[in-house]
Amino acid sequence: MAQNNFYYICIPMSRKGKLDIVLHDVLIEDIAAEGKSIAHARLEGDDPESPGRVLFVEFAVPGDIVDVRLIRKKNSFLEGRIIRINKPSEQRLNPFCQHFGVCGGCKWQSLPYDIQLRAKQRQVYDQLTRIGHLKVPEFQPIIGSEKTRFYRNKLEFSASCKRWLLPGEDPAQAASPGLGFHVGKFFDKVLDIEHCYLQPEPSNAIRLAVKDYALRNALSFYDIRENHGLFRNMFVRTTDDGQVMVIMCFGVDSPAIFPLLSYLRDKFPEISSLYYVVNTKGNDSISDQECILFSGSPAIYEKMENLRFRIGPKSFYQTNTGQALSLYRKAREFSGLDGSQVVYDLYTGTGTIAQFVSAGAKKVIGIEYVPEAIEDARTNARANGITNCEFFAGDMKDILTDSFIKEHGHPDVMIVDPPRAGMHPDVVQTILRAAPERIIYVSCNPASQARDIAMMADKYRITAVQPVDMFPHTMHVENICKLEYYAD
Ligand SMILES: C[S@@+](CC[C@H](N)C(=O)[O-])C[C@H]1O[C@@H](n2cnc3c(N)ncnc32)[C@H](O)[C@@H]1O
Repeated sequence: MAQNNFYYICIPMSRKGKLDIVLHDVLIEDIAAEGKSIAHARLEGDDPESPGRVLFVEFAVPGDIVDVRLIRKKNSFLEGRIIRINKPSEQRLNPFCQHFGVCGGCKWQSLPYDIQLRAKQRQVYDQLTRIGHLKVPEFQPIIGSEKTRFYRNKLEFSASCKRWLLPGEDPAQAASPGLGFHVGKFFDKVLDIEHCYLQPEPSNAIRLAVKDYALRNALSFYDIRENHGLFRNMFVRTTDDGQVMVIMCFGVDSPAIFPLLSYLRDKFPEISSLYYVVNTKGNDSISDQECILFSGSPAIYEKMENLRFRIGPKSFYQTNTGQALSLYRKAREFSGLDGSQVVYDLYTGTGTIAQFVSAGAKKVIGIEYVPEAIEDARTNARANGITNCEFFAGDMKDILTDSFIKEHGHPDVMIVDPPRAGMHPDVVQTILRAAPERIIYVSCNPASQARDIAMMADKYRITAVQPVDMFPHTMHVENICKLEYYAD
């Protein structure tokens, strides 16, 4: 087995001013934070007795021996790209997707799933202890996803008049259109996708049919830099029982939209809800756009236990349906409800967690930023026959005030599920003043979760931690912390 005493060649700078340093026979040691793998390397001039600088590499598996070209060189760390695998790790798997390495998704395909899960669990531990400096109890083992492919219920595909060229492709092809995913940091480049393993059929079939139709009928694909072109982006949403919603987005209003929509409706009878949007603004988001129903039902419906949730074109719904159920069950278990508690569900989205725990609560208050989501929450609660949930729309720091809490009742339990950035410090202070007995903190970003919990550490201690894997083959991890009040 190679040790970490590498050979290196060091050529100061290439003509383009880029680093041109190649490290040979680097032994990949472990998986680090941010989904990259970690090794150590010494450069010319480094102390030969030192363990070397930390080196981060993407797409590497612990045990691989690789040649790496540096792309960043700092005193404290290096970053590089694999240019050759000299000896693959015994754990290395062949990626199942033809787009692996170019597409920004599913970067951990070469890692066996049990290693992915261990790395995610450790990431949560590291972030709570290193960022938050928090004391943590023994973790409950991470809940792995039963489905590791085709687990998503929603995907967005972007159209571009200039697709991303693969290595070795003729630059003359650069002007050809593509339909798929944006490539890494390049907002104007789209990788044309043949087959994606993230969403069940008919997702791939619909995307390919749309592209084929657009090419045959010479519809223009969107030019992101110039903000013109007809076919812009599309969303496909699917449910476990086979309902399909498609939202087609166009950069200009045109009569050519309707033959395309009719073609889709007729070719795919399984599309239960077909919408279109004419979006002429500078970004692809449809949250502020009018979604016009072309055919089928206005919504699709997902079931969870005995509840049914309406999903409109703009509704947020957890993207891995099976794992959302595991997540919600754990959040409910950690809440320890016996029918007597007032529960606040902060960042409630369409009120799914609120409704999920409502049978065990005296009353549930749900608060959320997006007014349409709150409308969905109210509609869903009514349709589910739930009468003890109330929902409020607005920015959390404006709605959740001391007087709001006085008016709606002291919370015994607060469930919080904020976006990646975590909670606003004012919200944390209001929660501390409200002093619920328990806080169940659900997070898709353990780093911001650790920061927020650290702000509450004088009054709350973590009594249980449950990581959940919602996104196999990616570095992302969801985590639930149960916090209990201990200050007197
Ligand atoms: C991670 S989602 C959680 C959704 C919900 N708990 C669920 O499981 O479906 C976070 C939610 O917070 C909402 N949100 C983001 N910023 C907010 C803010 N400042 N005030 C209130 N809600 C906010 C988002 O619109 C989103 O619905």
